Amino acid sequence: MRILSGIQPSGTLHIGNYFGMIQPMVASQSKGELFCFCANMHSLTSLTDGAKLLSYTTDAVLDMLALGIDPDRSVFWVQSDVAEVAELTWYLNNVTPVGLLERCHSYKDKVAKGIPPYNGLFSYPVLMAADILLYQSNVVPVGKDQKQHVEVTRDIAIKFNAQYGEIFTIPQPQISESVAVIPGIDGQKMSKSYGNTLDIFAPEKELRKKVMSIVTDPTPVEAPKDPDASTIYALYRLVASQDKAAEMADKFRGGGLGYGDAKKELFAVLWEYFLPFREKRRLLAENTDYVNEVRKKGAQKARAIGIPTLEKVRKAVGMV
Ligand code: ADP
Ligand code: TRP
Repeated sequence: MRILSGIQPSGTLHIGNYFGMIQPMVASQSKGELFCFCANMHSLTSLTDGAKLLSYTTDAVLDMLALGIDPDRSVFWVQSDVAEVAELTWYLNNVTPVGLLERCHSYKDKVAKGIPPYNGLFSYPVLMAADILLYQSNVVPVGKDQKQHVEVTRDIAIKFNAQYGEIFTIPQPQISESVAVIPGIDGQKMSKSYGNTLDIFAPEKELRKKVMSIVTDPTPVEAPKDPDASTIYALYRLVASQDKAAEMADKFRGGGLGYGDAKKELFAVLWEYFLPFREKRRLLAENTDYVNEVRKKGAQKARAIGIPTLEKVRKAVGMV
């Protein structure tokens, strides 16, 4: 079973990204053949500063390797290092009805948020289809927001196969309903766009400040509190051992644990939890040659799988 995941480089990763997406992806390395890439060509739809995109891409590669993507067990690459995906996008464009793309919520949502309505943004699901189909992926784990794009991919693949012969594997989206929404420091869903994130690789002082600014209610220190209504506890149980989490829940219920002390405890455990990842990232950042080699080998492995598919497509559509 080939599992494919793409992540847009966006500067910083927060713990919502980690528990919602990266941790399950890292775990999937033992369940199937993981194909994981940094979707820098997709980022062009919302980022027009080249220097920034380049540095975001380098950061994303370091982040993913530090957080547990294992280049020996998985195929890990940067999207633009396999330029064949752009060629496949063009072929797919010619079996993609405009109406199919017009129905995509994400385009309308992004335009409503002020992102300019360029064709790249509009036809982004076709590039995503090419990402998925080039590697004959079986399963695409995505958040709910991306489910429609995998459905578009299926429609495109079915249409292409009907017209040109059975070339593409029809992928399945895998929506992890079970992954809880991680709250941010204001209690809403943690998200870059809400400015409420706890960033995995933030410096100690900054992270402590953020944790200490978690919004709480005015319940006095000595009063009993419901742990399940607390953002502090929701975050703490992600990073603390079961015993420690149960201890905090009991202390909240029993009264006597103030939010300030709970935040200090959360910070300590959170910092500790990501410490090995931070250390690994620091070592990787110093070892540019190794990281470049990983990137090069990853692209080679991806191309070795993608090119045979593209060759079939070229033949089918009449290029060769
Ligand atoms: P953001 O909302 O910060 O822009 P993205 O949309 O780039 O984050 O997130 C990439 C992926 O990370 C999402 O598809 C989702 O799987 C996961 N993710 C992001 N935020 C959360 C969260 N608060 N809780 C759980 N998962 C999340
Ligand atoms: N569009 C996805 C996102 O914004 C990233 C992505 C690009 C992707 N190509 C993909 C995800 C292929 C899964 C499969 O999150």
